[in-house]
Amino acid sequence: MIGVFDSGHGGLTILEALQHRLPRQGFIYLGDHANAPYGQRSTEEIYELTRQGVATLFGLGCTLVILACNTAAAVALRRLQQEWLPHHFPHHRCLGVLVPMIEEIAHNPWHASATESDWARAPETLGVFATRATVASGAYVHEVAKRAPRLKIFQQACPDLAGTIEAGADEGVIEPMVARYVGELLAQIEDGRLDSVVLGCTHYPLVEHLFRAHLPENTRIVSQPQRTADSLTAYLFRHPEMKRFGALPAEIRAYTTGDPALATQLASRFFSRHLAFHALPHHADRMRTHA
Ligand code: DGL
Repeated sequence: MIGVFDSGHGGLTILEALQHRLPRQGFIYLGDHANAPYGQRSTEEIYELTRQGVATLFGLGCTLVILACNTAAAVALRRLQQEWLPHHFPHHRCLGVLVPMIEEIAHNPWHASATESDWARAPETLGVFATRATVASGAYVHEVAKRAPRLKIFQQACPDLAGTIEAGADEGVIEPMVARYVGELLAQIEDGRLDSVVLGCTHYPLVEHLFRAHLPENTRIVSQPQRTADSLTAYLFRHPEMKRFGALPAEIRAYTTGDPALATQLASRFFSRHLAFHALPHHADRMRTHA
């Protein structure tokens, strides 16, 4: 099984795309609802909660975990890969959702029906909308500097947006927030040219149409769920030992550190199939503190 970790429900937008692309692959989803949102937490808290979540998924039998949460990936992934995995789980792997986005923007054309001139015209400016912790981590800036150094990046923190979406607020509440954050990002760019945008929080794809409505017409929104699914598919092709393709329909198990009934009820807004959340089994819960 492949583990998918998020602070709450947002990672279900990633799971949906993964499951669609890899229908024979089983997944175990873990939402750390008891400790969400992560976006306003300190670096140390986010690292520790993410480490515990990944250890729990390893304890449930996963050997590969996707951090389907920009905040967790931005703040914790590199440290987990460099300091923790080699000592505690040298044969397990952990991947995130940031690098696939930057690779897409750095190497690929604008859209599926791109013409030759689209290929020739590389994007010059990138906007990133994300939680406060993701912006403060500088992880997107770091990845852009490494993989697409000519790209100018503009970041916009959107405090409370993920929490408002997760709470099920209606569009009348969410739209003015999105309009304000888009306006603040555009105000950072002198000539107003915004080629590509990353909705760098797994909740934001649910209100992509609101971002679309307020962004300039020719700004491309890069889909994180699709891109993460492409990237995982390519990774499994290179690492066949990590995949466990079985019969259809493949199993999807969902666990929460919070209230399973509430998590199940809210999941329908993020995932197209019925998904029942369960409390963590005791053996997995113990992994959280002992790994
Ligand atoms: N899912 C998280 C992300 O992608 C945002 C929610 C939170 O703040 O916990 O950044």
